[in-house]
Amino acid sequence: MNSDASVAHRTLLDRYLPLIDDPTAFLTSAATPLPICLWANPLKTTGPQLLNQLQGLGLNPQPIPWWPNAFQLQPNFHPGNTLAYMAGWYTVQEAIALAAVVALAPQPGECILDLCAAPGGKTAQMAMAVGDSGWVVANDYSAGRLVGLGDTLNRLGCLNVITTHGNGRNLGLVPGQFDRVLVDAPCSGEGTLRKQAQPQPWRPHYSQRIAKVQRDLLAQALKLVKPGGVVVYSTCTFAPEENEAIIDGVLGDLGHLEPAAIAPLIHQPGLTRWQGQDYRTDLRHACRYFPHFNDTGGFFIARIRRSPNPYPTKVAPLQSPLLPAVSIAPEASLTLLQSRFGLPTACLVNRLLWATGRSRLWLAERQCIPLLGPLIPQTIGLAIARYERQGLKPTTAFLQRLGPWIRRNHINLEDPATVATFLEGQPQSIATDGLESGYVHVRHGPFHLGCGRYTGGQLQSQIPKGTVGGSASRLVWAAQSDPLSR
Ligand SMILES: C[S@@+](CC[C@H](N)C(=O)[O-])C[C@H]1O[C@@H](n2cnc3c(N)ncnc32)[C@H](O)[C@@H]1O
Repeated sequence: MNSDASVAHRTLLDRYLPLIDDPTAFLTSAATPLPICLWANPLKTTGPQLLNQLQGLGLNPQPIPWWPNAFQLQPNFHPGNTLAYMAGWYTVQEAIALAAVVALAPQPGECILDLCAAPGGKTAQMAMAVGDSGWVVANDYSAGRLVGLGDTLNRLGCLNVITTHGNGRNLGLVPGQFDRVLVDAPCSGEGTLRKQAQPQPWRPHYSQRIAKVQRDLLAQALKLVKPGGVVVYSTCTFAPEENEAIIDGVLGDLGHLEPAAIAPLIHQPGLTRWQGQDYRTDLRHACRYFPHFNDTGGFFIARIRRSPNPYPTKVAPLQSPLLPAVSIAPEASLTLLQSRFGLPTACLVNRLLWATGRSRLWLAERQCIPLLGPLIPQTIGLAIARYERQGLKPTTAFLQRLGPWIRRNHINLEDPATVATFLEGQPQSIATDGLESGYVHVRHGPFHLGCGRYTGGQLQSQIPKGTVGGSASRLVWAAQSDPLSR
């Protein structure tokens, strides 16, 4: 660790000395790299199958006891460099960040708003929890960060998330339409100290500025959640000015705090007094996590139960759920894909095809279309195809997700060397009777890799470069290739 970092850790310690039970343990933990945490994507694999796969790479994953099928790995493992990652078998999320969604406890069939969603680990976690009868609206103010969120949702194959680009301080949505809302607020980020070479000390001016945003975001969440629903307010910072003070200033009689503790995680109860300022007493139910408590990053989580009183409003409910920019696409496009890949109707039942712009098609679960009002969706479920000059081109995300049902125009590349050169974009000579010219689905054993184009006996990858985590040559294949050394 460099000396700047150790000065920053000591400055943090000085500020929070009244709260930190064991200063030596705090400093030791702050200087220790954070373990990698990842969880199995239930849409594509199972915990045991992923465990087996990671062990096959010579790794030693340790289960996280408080979230199913999540594993911790040594900090020098590069989780984006495996075929399993590329095929969407897992997503990477800091362990303590999982806790915000555990506290929110989304249930199957519910409609959830993720007000500050990018890069989207918690969105994905919630999408899996609400299942195919529920829905998540994932909003963020940063267009650039939403692109990364869309990539993650495509890689995982989520059909039940709409992403929107809006200022969470005022989304203009009909009040009271979400069962639960997560406010994972922008903050001064003190809790990320183990990830940063140059951790920032607490900056009062920044903290005051961001506190205004945090207050508005929480007020918006309390407006959009149903009466009696649940809001979780979380940050990755220790500062009470960005945590307890925000809730104390906004909540009033709109709701009350409920216990947010998660066994067996060690936490410190939220503060009811800081630097001469008294806060509401139910803030003791909130949880502050210092890094040395559970060998994680730092975090703060508060769970709020919205009062049963409806939000006072005169807004008339909107008639149309989505803007004209989005329409239900003709079934014919889906029929084309179905017949090309021999997909049984059963895998498409209860799903709707949407179109945006002139050429993009999306597949989404039918059940819950929230009223988005003025918000323009960036993505609706899974990007499945686009119209190009040569015709309808399926996305890699679509073929990866529906891979297990594909019965026609698919090919299994058996040899890892062939897979590597295919993923690098080099044409492969393939002698097979089964493939028709055009777009095909490419597999390697259990991994659904995605789209290739087959013409004149040659197979060429159509998999977007970013899907391969930068370079195919960095992928690790088996225990003999060292997943820690790249
Ligand atoms: C802590 S990060 C969210 C992390 C995310 N929940 C996750 O689990 O990956 C905070 C996010 O808030 C977004 N943000 C900042 N101001 C916002 C606003 N006014 N409305 C909505 N999002 C905002 C930032 O772009 C950033 O992506």
